[in-house]
Amino acid sequence: MAMSNSILLSLFFISSAALADVQGCSCLRFTYPSFDITNKDDFSFSPGSAIANGSLQITSNTGNLSNQSGRVVYARETLKLWNRKDAALTSFRTEFVLNILPQNGAGEGMAFILTNNSSLPSDSSGQWLGVCNNQTDGAPTNRIVAVEFDTCKSSKDDLDSNHVGLDLNSIKSDKQYPLSNLSIILSSGSDVFVSIKYNSTRHVFLVSIIQYNTTGNGGHTWRETWLVDLSQHLRDEIYLGFAGSTGDYTELNQIKSWNFTTIDDDAVVETRHVRKVFLSLVTLILFPICWFLVLLMRRRVKQQTRLAYCNLEKMIDAHGPIRFKIKELKHATANFSPHRKLGRGGGGTVYLGYLNRLNMEVAVKRVSANNSSSRGEKEFVAEVNTIGKLSHRNLVKLVGLCHEGGELLLVYDYFPMGSLDKHLFSHATVCTSSSDTSTPELTWERRYRIICGVASALDYLHHGSSKRILHRDVKASNVMLDEEYNARLGDFGLARVIQIDGVTHHSTQAVAGTRGYMAHESFFTGHASLDTDVYAFGVFVMEVISGKSPSRSMLYDREELYIVDWTWRHYSEGKVLETADAVLGVVYNEAQMDCTVRLALACCHPNPRERPSMRTAVQVLIGGMPAPDPPFEKPTFVWPLSGKQQEIELRHVGVLFTGQLSFCSKTSTSLTGR
Ligand SMILES: *[C@@H]1O[C@H](CO)[C@@H](O)[C@H](O)[C@H]1NC(C)=O
Ligand SMILES: *[C@@H]1O[C@H](CO)[C@@H](O)[C@H](O)[C@H]1NC(C)=O
Ligand SMILES: *[C@@H]1O[C@H](CO)[C@@H](O)[C@H](O)[C@H]1NC(C)=O
Ligand SMILES: *[C@@H]1O[C@H](CO)[C@@H](O)[C@H](O)[C@H]1NC(C)=O
Ligand SMILES: *[C@@H]1O[C@H](CO)[C@@H](O)[C@H](O)[C@H]1NC(C)=O
Ligand SMILES: *[C@@H]1O[C@H](CO)[C@@H](O)[C@H](O)[C@H]1NC(C)=O
Ligand SMILES: *[C@@H]1O[C@H](CO)[C@@H](O)[C@H](O)[C@H]1NC(C)=O
Ligand SMILES: *[C@@H]1O[C@H](CO)[C@@H](O)[C@H](O)[C@H]1NC(C)=O
Ligand SMILES: *[C@@H]1O[C@H](CO)[C@@H](O)[C@H](O)[C@H]1NC(C)=O
Ligand SMILES: *[C@@H]1O[C@H](CO)[C@@H](O)[C@H](O)[C@H]1NC(C)=O
Repeated sequence: MAMSNSILLSLFFISSAALADVQGCSCLRFTYPSFDITNKDDFSFSPGSAIANGSLQITSNTGNLSNQSGRVVYARETLKLWNRKDAALTSFRTEFVLNILPQNGAGEGMAFILTNNSSLPSDSSGQWLGVCNNQTDGAPTNRIVAVEFDTCKSSKDDLDSNHVGLDLNSIKSDKQYPLSNLSIILSSGSDVFVSIKYNSTRHVFLVSIIQYNTTGNGGHTWRETWLVDLSQHLRDEIYLGFAGSTGDYTELNQIKSWNFTTIDDDAVVETRHVRKVFLSLVTLILFPICWFLVLLMRRRVKQQTRLAYCNLEKMIDAHGPIRFKIKELKHATANFSPHRKLGRGGGGTVYLGYLNRLNMEVAVKRVSANNSSSRGEKEFVAEVNTIGKLSHRNLVKLVGLCHEGGELLLVYDYFPMGSLDKHLFSHATVCTSSSDTSTPELTWERRYRIICGVASALDYLHHGSSKRILHRDVKASNVMLDEEYNARLGDFGLARVIQIDGVTHHSTQAVAGTRGYMAHESFFTGHASLDTDVYAFGVFVMEVISGKSPSRSMLYDREELYIVDWTWRHYSEGKVLETADAVLGVVYNEAQMDCTVRLALACCHPNPRERPSMRTAVQVLIGGMPAPDPPFEKPTFVWPLSGKQQEIELRHVGVLFTGQLSFCSKTSTSLTGR
């Protein structure tokens, strides 16, 4: 009976979660009536571009203006081209005011861009508009769609020096339209109002341009419909922004205001509504029927489980990773042979597999059967929903999945070099056993790149999409290395999605993580939050710098200290550089080391509110912001922080915890790290 109850419960969970998910949308909406310095963090700027004079300056507005290119993209969120559950494309509308102020003549122009790569291509000044360069012009891998406002006839393909055009991965416009006949002069230094609407059902751009008379009455309008199927050129995570360039002739390429909103297509809303009603009916009808079935056929649990998985499948996005058959994965892993075992963790065992079909090696994670069945499923769904959508060069990619015959399996990219901890710690032993000072495998340069990579991946999880995603188990053994020693953050077994408004579908999650990486407050709150991830990142950085494990204490002045206190003591006594791993010798960049240690300490500040965000951490690492100055004495941990305010803050960012009682006690002894 207990068994059938749990099946019913999980069925219920699945149906209601499916309902909740259908309501989820991929909206993106922002409005900037003007720009000022407080909006700086919302955008990513290429060197030279900035916010100045109430505008986005797409190319530099100071210094030598010739031969510049620039790119400014909205960095808080990306546009999801696919509307999650409905397998429909997203429609949107955007309006902006551009002002091109000629300096010594006018060149070259600017463009509204949609792209998967926020970085400015090199050598993209002059005719390239910051869109591409002469190496990449026309390459489908550019994944860029642009509406250009060209103010210079810089190639034979340009019709004139005052036109609007549609660019698909290339600066050679697919469509263009000269504006001079209409008395619209883009580079007149007066405001140009642009509106672009994309209808994803008809695959059209409706572009309109208005320039008002300086006299204040009337104006000139141009309007055109261009056929363009964005899904042919772009994938899911799209950056929105502007690019521009100058050549011998220069101008200020300015955006004075900008708004953007995704539009719910009526048809899509309708499908959603119908689906919702359908699912509610299914829930209502299925529930008693299942009850009946379960009573009748309690022994045929397997069949019921299959039914549950059938619903489970609905929850996994239509555009998700590859579905595998269990047979194929069994074959790939030699029937989960112990010889193929790569390790355990994150609620499952990981095996090395070889997929004939794709001719590639993969890591297959078999979600533990001894996890209570519903917990296993929930984790599985969370993991698939979360990571199936993610794409970042410092995250381990989910190749596919399989759920069949009661087995839950996840297939990831395989990294033969294995996890970072193996490299870190194997070297520590080599070092103590030999005094020879050949260059270590993990040079400082590599370590720094690994730290930057993990920071960038966490920033992406925390701030890169409309959902905030907690990793919850950042540590060296969850970081894989590729052949070039780039970090790949993996093991999302514990990752959870939290919605920005604080409402969460996965609302009952216990604190989990690894002892040594867990922030103090999580013992009291039972919450994981962005701040606890930042703390774990701080510990991780110390681990990478020192090559010492956070799970073991070290002697310092005859005192047994764990890594955070150990590092902090070095810092208090002005010996930051002595935290460096001995295998590095003295071969490291001192300024970088100092900056990184400070950042790590700031991340491990006992007061979560003092910790930097991952966005700030990335800025510090790439030199865009000065290193933090943590207090010389490690502040003591005070709890509660400051009453109500803290609670509200936590509710805003945290995964609500309502599970295991042991976490509610005020001692940390009941916590079990893995
Ligand atoms: C700033 O903007 C105002 C109004 O648009 C303009 O008159 C002025 O020249 C601009 N200043 C600079 C330095 O661009
Ligand atoms: C800007 O730099 C170029 C060389 O890169 C030079 O030819 C030009 O005279 C400079 N312009 C100004 C205004 O300093
Ligand atoms: C922004 O949106 C509002 C309302 O949709 C609109 O009235 C306004 O003109 C838009 N454009 C800009 C550039 O702010
Ligand atoms: C953009 O897409 C191309 C082609 O799929 C890919 O090679 C590239 O890595 C992507 N860029 C980013 C930043 O994801
Ligand atoms: C993104 O664009 C930059 C500049 O062109 C390039 O260096 C980088 O490799 C691109 N990233 C990816 C993932 O393609
Ligand atoms: C790109 O420009 C460089 C220098 O102007 C030139 O040497 C090279 O041939 C060009 N490449 C292509 C693909 O046009
Ligand atoms: C613009 O005007 C010129 C001359 O009046 C004419 O030849 C040309 O076809 C016009 N172009 C467009 C796009 O209307
Ligand atoms: C203002 O714009 C209208 C078109 O809306 C045009 O007919 C008129 O000539 C313009 N007036 C001036 C003074 O430019
Ligand atoms: C800008 O770049 C072009 C092509 O590389 C070059 O011919 C020109 O002299 C440059 N102009 C300035 C002012 O630097
Ligand atoms: C897109 O076009 C279709 C067909 O004309 C229309 O029914 C739908 O409402 C349009 N969608 C948007 C978002 O404008």
